[in-house]
Amino acid sequence: MDDFISLQRSIERLVRIKCSNYKEDYIKRRILSRMRLTNATDYETYHKYLLANPQEVDLLRNALTINVTKFFRDPEVFEVIRREILPDLARRKKSIRIWCAGCATGEEPYSIAILAHEMMALHRDISVTIYATDIDTVVLQKAMAGIYDQKALENVDEKRVRKHFISHENGTFEVRPHIRELVKFRQHDLMSGVPAVRYVDAVTCRNVTIYFTEKQKNDLAHLFHTALGIDGYYIMGKTEYLGREVEHLFVPYNVMQKILQKKAP
Ligand SMILES: C[S@@+](CC[C@H](N)C(=O)[O-])C[C@H]1O[C@@H](n2cnc3c(N)ncnc32)[C@H](O)[C@@H]1O
Repeated sequence: MDDFISLQRSIERLVRIKCSNYKEDYIKRRILSRMRLTNATDYETYHKYLLANPQEVDLLRNALTINVTKFFRDPEVFEVIRREILPDLARRKKSIRIWCAGCATGEEPYSIAILAHEMMALHRDISVTIYATDIDTVVLQKAMAGIYDQKALENVDEKRVRKHFISHENGTFEVRPHIRELVKFRQHDLMSGVPAVRYVDAVTCRNVTIYFTEKQKNDLAHLFHTALGIDGYYIMGKTEYLGREVEHLFVPYNVMQKILQKKAP
């Protein structure tokens, strides 16, 4: 059997990821990045390494899912954004600014834009801008194209699909202009030490820091603290947490959903 096919079989069994869900080119790029880091020169050597080192299974899983995202990923968090955070910001501000950091292919900022659009229908004097950034220009191009397959829309109810997407004959869905125009995409490295935007009312940075060291995570908390305005919200991923050294910068808002608020100076 071909070395790559045999490796894929082990990946499906150990990593529990269906390789056929991804483009072959994508799978190969991610495996190659793990091969470089483990000094494996060919698929066979890497395959043996994977079988002999249980920790590599987790590292490979992370490498394969690094850009994975979908609309309304963790719907409960978006429910809090819809029911509490956007209405609170609308009471305080006429012009709301949200930074979606590590936005990958755009599903997260567009989900927030959908909620913002619904809120703006009730408050016609309020405007919302979502700044969506990522380090990876390939994912940003896809984000800007705004075209998705059915699977990405799994958590979007039918009414929202009809209202906010154009359904194409080839089975894809394109984000409509009234949602697109709320989101500004730009490339930005979260480790650069400089925020992509300032005076923001909320930052979402979800499922981004899996590879970050404790120091990098702490620096990031400082970066978001600088970027946020008074009482601004910091929305983390479900498995992410704030390090002890930076706990004093924020107060918990919703512990279950990993939402914090900037502490007043
Ligand atoms: C799993 S996706 C998360 C997408 C979305 N936030 C979500 O939760 O569904 C992680 C994204 O973080 C981006 N990322 C990783 N390191 C980064 C960095 N230093 N600066 C900016 N983005 C980064 C990756 O390129 C990837 O697109």
